[in-house]
Amino acid sequence: AGLHAVAKAAGKLYLGTATDNNELTNTQYTAILEAPNMFGQITAENTMKWDATEPQQNVFTFTQGDQIANLAKSHGMLLRGHNCVWHQQLPSWVTAGNFNAQQLTQIIQNHCGTVVGHYKGQVELGCKPLNDDGSFRQDVFFNTLGSGYIATALRAARAADPAAKLYINEFNVEGLGAKSTALKNLVTSLKQQGVPIDGVGFQCHFIVGQVPTTLIQSMQQFTALGLEVAITELDIRMTLPETAALLEQQKQDFQTVIHACKSVAGCVGVTVWDFTDKFSFVPSTFPGQGAATPWDQNLVKKPAFDGIVAGF
Ligand code: XIL
Repeated sequence: AGLHAVAKAAGKLYLGTATDNNELTNTQYTAILEAPNMFGQITAENTMKWDATEPQQNVFTFTQGDQIANLAKSHGMLLRGHNCVWHQQLPSWVTAGNFNAQQLTQIIQNHCGTVVGHYKGQVELGCKPLNDDGSFRQDVFFNTLGSGYIATALRAARAADPAAKLYINEFNVEGLGAKSTALKNLVTSLKQQGVPIDGVGFQCHFIVGQVPTTLIQSMQQFTALGLEVAITELDIRMTLPETAALLEQQKQDFQTVIHACKSVAGCVGVTVWDFTDKFSFVPSTFPGQGAATPWDQNLVKKPAFDGIVAGF
């Protein structure tokens, strides 16, 4: 059975994947991506980010993002917008820091409003606002505007598409700790101020054998606040070369993560950060590591695929 079908049968909204435009010319790849009920949701891996969508101020380019959005639409898949404001893959006209608070506020409002309005669908804020110790990340937005930029972006997104689900997407909040607590405090304060926020995305870029043991409790911190959660970028990497033992542990780890989402009623779905080792971002970002996804370099299913099915 397809992974999405298995997720639906377990009461979840979707099992999805990230994908990128340059991968869509590989017909072996698209045969899996588009197989009935394999994936029920798509995230654009890069082409809805700020540098791709507004490379020059107020010049919006949606051609590549639209290719992903149309693919999702034509197959009845949900779309996760990724993302409207965060500190990476920004064009230099933003990072240069040449704007005062009033100007940068308007720039965020224009960017988030235009992108979210263009892709009326399921949209994620993705701002990764925190450092690992729980303090705010000192990016161009925080340095100019303080933490208020988060509310600015969320409000602009809600105004552009009242139906869009608005998420803050973070990493290293998957287990309990300073950063998870800081994010809980942030979303609590946003809710108290009446800022629109629907959910928290747990990225889940994990290492084989090191899935946080408090994943379920960390999710429950947010669902207890009335928010939904989603696993938004799941992959589980290993130090290469892969071995049968590592692949078996990886299968267990995928099962553990999926089972955590299954166990938490407010966890709506899971997205893998691409489904094949052929296109995974891991080896270029973490040298010496890889093999982090459920299909291998040759687009053959790995034990991890069975781990996902077993987890539901
Ligand atoms: C990554 C993409 O996978 C790469 O292709 C790109 O070069 C850099 O960005 N967390 C995120 C994603 O929120 O946007 C990142 O995607 C991976 C880490």
